[in-house]
Amino acid sequence: MSERETWATRAGFILAAVGSAVGLGNIWQFPFKTAQYGGATFLVVYLVAAFGIGLPAMLSEFVIGRKSNLNTISAFERLGYRQWRAAGIVGLLTGFWILSYYSVVGGWVLRYVGGSVTGAYFGDAGAYFGTISAGLPAVALHAVFMALVVGIVAFGIEDGIEKATKLMVPSILVILVALAVWAFTLPGSGPGYAYFLSPDLSQLRLTVGTTGSFPWVTFGGPLAEIIPFAVSQAFFSLSLGMGAMITYASYIDGDESLFGDSVTIVVFNSLIGILAGLVVIPLLFAQGAEPGAGGAGALFVSVASAFATIPFGRVVGFVFFLVVLVAALSSAISLLEVVVSYAVDNYAVSRPQVAAGLGAAIFVLGLPSAWDTAWLTWFDTLAYQLFLPLSVLGILVFTGWVFGRAAVDELLRGTGFGGGMGALWLWTVRTVVLLGVLLTLVLGLITLFGGPDPAIVPPL
Ligand code: PFF
Repeated sequence: MSERETWATRAGFILAAVGSAVGLGNIWQFPFKTAQYGGATFLVVYLVAAFGIGLPAMLSEFVIGRKSNLNTISAFERLGYRQWRAAGIVGLLTGFWILSYYSVVGGWVLRYVGGSVTGAYFGDAGAYFGTISAGLPAVALHAVFMALVVGIVAFGIEDGIEKATKLMVPSILVILVALAVWAFTLPGSGPGYAYFLSPDLSQLRLTVGTTGSFPWVTFGGPLAEIIPFAVSQAFFSLSLGMGAMITYASYIDGDESLFGDSVTIVVFNSLIGILAGLVVIPLLFAQGAEPGAGGAGALFVSVASAFATIPFGRVVGFVFFLVVLVAALSSAISLLEVVVSYAVDNYAVSRPQVAAGLGAAIFVLGLPSAWDTAWLTWFDTLAYQLFLPLSVLGILVFTGWVFGRAAVDELLRGTGFGGGMGALWLWTVRTVVLLGVLLTLVLGLITLFGGPDPAIVPPL
């Protein structure tokens, strides 16, 4: 194995991690899932999950990566737990699965960059979206997006991406703030804010009941449906459970505070998601759309058609979708990079070969999603309700119960915190955080295989 690279600066690491985290998950998925699954109640559960579960889970991935200095599979072996490579493999496969349909949506964005220049979607964004989001046009766009990702990873123009990412974060903030302010001035957007920002606390209800037969426990109440989506949204958005953060942390060379880094990343990531919500949800209300009806097209129909009505709409639309494209690319390369670096480290293959081979495999896996958005929804549902919580659960069991004290020692390196803080982290990872993810997984599986009849669930 050749000498391993490291981040030149601490900022370089944070920036790359932010580049991986901030992507379609924040700008495309977060607003429409929030609109679909209960508005402000979803937002509350999402934020609790991002800080209460995502942050400790991110620290777990950082600890595994920095301590081992190895890719997401070999890392477990170097730490002395060979059989736990299974956890790395689950993460890698989850990333593969997600990238397959992520690339399809990336293709839509690519089309909208061009469509902004020509004004193609300005007449009827809904009809335009219908034409390009499925069938052959979507397959072709999916191929082009995947080819871009492969090209970047194969020929190592990460330098370019790193510079683009540096520009992306500030420009995304500026554009989203400007669009949010503009959305605020639209007649009819008012109820959107109530829907997004003022939670109905009576919705924060989870009931548990028992039955005499398998699966013995039943759940009810609004949270039973919100939790699997909101918690997994936090994982997706923070790039957790896919090996990405383990790999990125494995390039850290130094004693920086992992606490500080992850707080920065989670705050930034949440901020951009909320800003996107402040654009998309009021817009949906202003256009008189049912909040949940926008679905996967919310960004491409509602926001896009808004560009048709504002001054310099083509320029604004072009810049907006270009920034979304950079965000999508910087996230997608972090996923492909995980697998490519594993292969390059361990087998006698060249980087371009592996990148192209894996890219082709991911392209094929994404074909159903490109052909029909119903498949895309199914892939996304399975990722949320099964793969993501399962993968994060594995990481948490490993750091909390297997690696244990050694994980705490690694975590405290460079923080200046005393052992008390480490003990607290370990305790939460072992108990509440772990139980939260377990609950997410169980609820996800129940929703996946048909929920219980609410009538038979007695409240606690
Ligand atoms: N976090 C990215 C987003 O929110 O768009 C998606 C993603 C990137 C997921 C990288 C997973 C990953 F490893």
